[in-house]
Amino acid sequence: MTIHIGAKPGDITETVLLPGDPYRARWAADAFLTDAKLVNEVRGMLGYTGTYKGNRVTIQGSGMGMPSLSIYVNELIRDYGAKTLIRIGSAGAMQEKVKLRDLVLASTASSLSTPSSAIFKEFNFAPTADFHLLHRAFHAAEAKGVQTHVGGIYSSDVFYDERPDLNEQMTRHGILAVEMEAAELYNLAARYGCRALAVLTVSDHLLSGEAMPSEQREKSFGDMVEIALEAAFA
Ligand code: ADE
Repeated sequence: MTIHIGAKPGDITETVLLPGDPYRARWAADAFLTDAKLVNEVRGMLGYTGTYKGNRVTIQGSGMGMPSLSIYVNELIRDYGAKTLIRIGSAGAMQEKVKLRDLVLASTASSLSTPSSAIFKEFNFAPTADFHLLHRAFHAAEAKGVQTHVGGIYSSDVFYDERPDLNEQMTRHGILAVEMEAAELYNLAARYGCRALAVLTVSDHLLSGEAMPSEQREKSFGDMVEIALEAAFA
């Protein structure tokens, strides 16, 4: 047990999928894992371990934002020995060519600050995805026929951003989408020699103001979970 995770040693596997929403951890475990067992419910941040095509995998909620994700990922890596960590979540598109329901695979994650900023200070560390996970996720997405974009994203500290100028600059510099967790996940993976990837579905569009209707979210989320599982175990 750690401060924030109640799982017993061995209950959490080397491969962990990380949805922000704990209820999505439960939904994904029910939909895709066999013999899924609840391994964490501290603070309602549900985590499940089960089997996907013969491989043991944990799906653990990370909460919203980098400070929350950082707590769970630090404990998963340092205390439970996680080695492959894949964020599965939603993002807001920042380019015309990126449409609602498209998949974004984040090759890099820019940020204004992360919980790791105290280490880097004025240095601009470039948090990157694991190439092999990215490569496999891309092929899994192609095989499913999901429209997929690979490129840089922006991990923001705020959902309701009071700095439209910053979003404009992100769009101008080719950033595909904004979310709130990946940069810290990539920082921690780099620090501890782990593999990480963020697999994201576009839930809203910052340029057009559109948002995905809630009845379509489940299908997109399911595709994303399967792509992440295929990337982990292909
Ligand atoms: N996650 C999904 N949509 C987002 C947005 N517009 N901003 C930040 N995080 C998001």
